[in-house]
Amino acid sequence: MTKVLIATDKPFAPVAVKGIRKVTEEAGFELVLLENYTSQDDFIKAIDDVDAVIIRSDKATKEVIDAGRKLKIIVRAGAGYDNIDLQAATAKNVVAMNTPGQNSNAVAELALGMMVYYARNFYNGKSGSELMGKKLGIHAYGFVGKNVARIAKGFGMDVYAFDPFIPKQEIEKDGVKWISTVEELYQTCHFISLHIPANSQTKQSINFALLSKMPVPACLVNTARAEVINEPDLLRMFQERKDFAYLSDVEPTNKAEIEAGFKMKFFCTPKKMGAQTEEANINAGIAAAKQIVNFINHGDKTFQVNK
Ligand code: 3PG
Repeated sequence: MTKVLIATDKPFAPVAVKGIRKVTEEAGFELVLLENYTSQDDFIKAIDDVDAVIIRSDKATKEVIDAGRKLKIIVRAGAGYDNIDLQAATAKNVVAMNTPGQNSNAVAELALGMMVYYARNFYNGKSGSELMGKKLGIHAYGFVGKNVARIAKGFGMDVYAFDPFIPKQEIEKDGVKWISTVEELYQTCHFISLHIPANSQTKQSINFALLSKMPVPACLVNTARAEVINEPDLLRMFQERKDFAYLSDVEPTNKAEIEAGFKMKFFCTPKKMGAQTEEANINAGIAAAKQIVNFINHGDKTFQVNK
């Protein structure tokens, strides 16, 4: 019998697991769960005899992939697949997929939520400011960026976007101002929302040279990945620009230092939770389960990322 493992150190909502179970069991597959695990060894043990795995930000390293004796497919229920060793998957003839777009509204809502929280002084009772009329720059206009634009326009923000991979017309048809260079985006906007993936081109690319172009006051919102930030440069921004704020869903490694010196300019969720809603869990989890069924039963490789 085909065996599917859900390996999530940050579990899906129970209602999403129920939905995944329904899809897999209707296909005649067995579903097994590894939730809240604390060591990679647990993942390595659990993957031993399964055909398919659903993960979130869980690390599918070479060691994990190689431990899957029968493994055929690994689906990241979410957008970013920087947590999968694609080379190891390809070498073992394992198909790797993601579920693009399925959790993007949840992430976008958190980005705007953090902006409001900051603009109102973290709800400390002192007079804050409003988002209406403020310039927001969206760095990468994929599914999350597009949702951020839609919600920000509802707030009355003046929305700009830079994305070298998306045609100008596609951005403009959403009523968003197209910007041709990353530098111009940062020069123009008081708020920047990051939606770039973490890869060899983007890692540490958000540096002092770019951030220091932002007008006063400046606020950077990161619901993407910690790795895209140059952390020493982030600290330098805080030190040199008293107006600079950083709101993040992904913890910087120098968090303690930033928190100690710049409390009212920094917020970080205690655990990455942009995609942590029942709706996003259901959408991404069930999409992952369906992709597995379609691949196992029909060889459908739509959404494969290790081609
Ligand atoms: C994604 O890439 O889909 C998001 O970062 C969400 O990640 P998560 O599933 O670990 O919450």
